[in-house]
Amino acid sequence: MCFSEATQNRRSIRALDSKTTVPEETLIKLAESALLTTPSAFNSQSTRLTILIGEDHQKLWSITADALLAKIGQDRWNGGTKDRIAGYSDAYGTILFWDDLSCIKRMGENAPDIYKDKTDEWAQQSNGMHQYYMWVGLEALGMGANLQHYNPLIDDEVKKAWNIPSNWALTAQMVFGVAKEGTISEPRQQKLPLEQRLLVFGACAKI
Ligand SMILES: Cc1cc2nc3c(=O)[nH]c(=O)nc-3n(C[C@H](O)[C@H](O)[C@H](O)COP(=O)(O)O)c2cc1C
Repeated sequence: MCFSEATQNRRSIRALDSKTTVPEETLIKLAESALLTTPSAFNSQSTRLTILIGEDHQKLWSITADALLAKIGQDRWNGGTKDRIAGYSDAYGTILFWDDLSCIKRMGENAPDIYKDKTDEWAQQSNGMHQYYMWVGLEALGMGANLQHYNPLIDDEVKKAWNIPSNWALTAQMVFGVAKEGTISEPRQQKLPLEQRLLVFGACAKI
């Protein structure tokens, strides 16, 4: 599947099975490639990834379940959240996206004065690029994925469980696996008219 096809096909797939279309090594290579090729401001490379598969993946969702139940109480937990979290736990794996705060601080210290207040923003942008790389990359491998945000609620327990450096801050959790049989994505929601979002000047082509 070419890049353009993968971007067209990528969707938020939340009904996932604990199956993979490719060996674990291929998934690890995809993450390595994301880390080695995704751009970052001043080449600061502040994004970190953790891949959780099998029991480790399930442990993440058990930690998340405990944290959510304690926060929202039994009634809200039973009213949909429990099933949603169980659905994520049923998937094949989760990629955790992190920012290395020491790295971002260093970028701020070394950046020219006019850029110093931009470095947090740029780190987020680069982290998001890694997320999109992985999402499209998984799609190209025939895997479905969705993006979740239970940080910072789960940060401390997750760091404890996998001995993650204290200066890493969790930014997102990407759940992935093979789309459950019969899963049909809803058509994409109406996007805003392109002319509101794209301005082209100086092109010869008629748009
Ligand atoms: C920055 C960002 C945050 C998102 N957060 C969540 C989230 O917390 N939970 C979730 O289920 N989907 C989340 N999504 C997925 C969006 O809801 C989804 O991408 C959007 O509705 C378009 O649907 P599509 O992914 O199928 O194209 C997020 C997407 C982005 C880019």
